[in-house]
Amino acid sequence: MNRMTELSSAPQEGEREALKQAACRSGEELLFPSGGWVRSPEAYHNALRLLRTEIELIRKEWKSAEGFSPIEHIKTRIKEPSSILDKLSRLGLEARLDETAEHIHDIAGMRIVFPFVTDIYLLLERIGRHSELRILQIKDYIMNPKPNGYRSLHVLLSVPSELDGRPCRVRVELQMRTLAMDFWASLDHILLYKYDRKVPEHLQAELASAAGAAGELDRKMLSLRSEVLSLSEEEDKQLAERTKSGSPVSETAERPASVHHSIVRSESERRTDYRHEP
Ligand code: GTP
Ligand code: MG
Repeated sequence: MNRMTELSSAPQEGEREALKQAACRSGEELLFPSGGWVRSPEAYHNALRLLRTEIELIRKEWKSAEGFSPIEHIKTRIKEPSSILDKLSRLGLEARLDETAEHIHDIAGMRIVFPFVTDIYLLLERIGRHSELRILQIKDYIMNPKPNGYRSLHVLLSVPSELDGRPCRVRVELQMRTLAMDFWASLDHILLYKYDRKVPEHLQAELASAAGAAGELDRKMLSLRSEVLSLSEEEDKQLAERTKSGSPVSETAERPASVHHSIVRSESERRTDYRHEP
């Protein structure tokens, strides 16, 4: 995880060039296929489809191991041309496709929402080990929230795609957040639009305080989960001891293993499993 923390620091000098190099190995990545993504956004759709399939596979695997999905939902979107033009003008850049290629990294976007914050980092770790996906940049607004209180983990990925039957790679901006973070961000988003990004100060203060409450909720949910976990581990231990000593097994202890384990296994158990994967 240290490597990730380093990556999550503020953009470094020359980072854009490094990003370009990493994402655009010559002949491999077509950021704007045929120079006109507006006419042919298929490369982005294909990349999002592939990424979704890969994430769904991981989700299924976790679900069958643990009895529940650590992912609440997945959403994807392709940025509207008008929104690209707005962003270019916000950045003080000309509305040209080559400007877009260099400066706009979120034409294809995916958002994954989780019940628990720790699962965000487990999935990040998993993506980092995926042979087909390349992590280009990580912005960790969970460890380092924005001044307004915004929290999420943003990961810029280079994802294999296809256009006109030819392989290529495009960038996808992946946002990962908890339900509490998502709830906060959706209200913030509404206010940003309503006030054209100039939210009145008293509302900004209220939002910052709500962000604190959302963070607190995430911490509480995690500690509740840990408590449930340690209880079920304790039950498992007692059951094993009783079985060994031949004492009668209580009704709770007789619950099938799947019920005990369906709550969730510990992070360390899951990490151990991953280490065993090829
Ligand atoms: P954008 O120009 O907004 O794309 O910013 P960026 O490309 O510099 O990247 P950044 O990581 O700051 O934000 C990317 C995306 O994260 C945004 O398009 C939003 O979807 C989301 N986001 C970032 N900051 C905020 C925020 O303060 N509030 C909300 N609601 N969403 C945010
Ligand atoms: Mg963006």
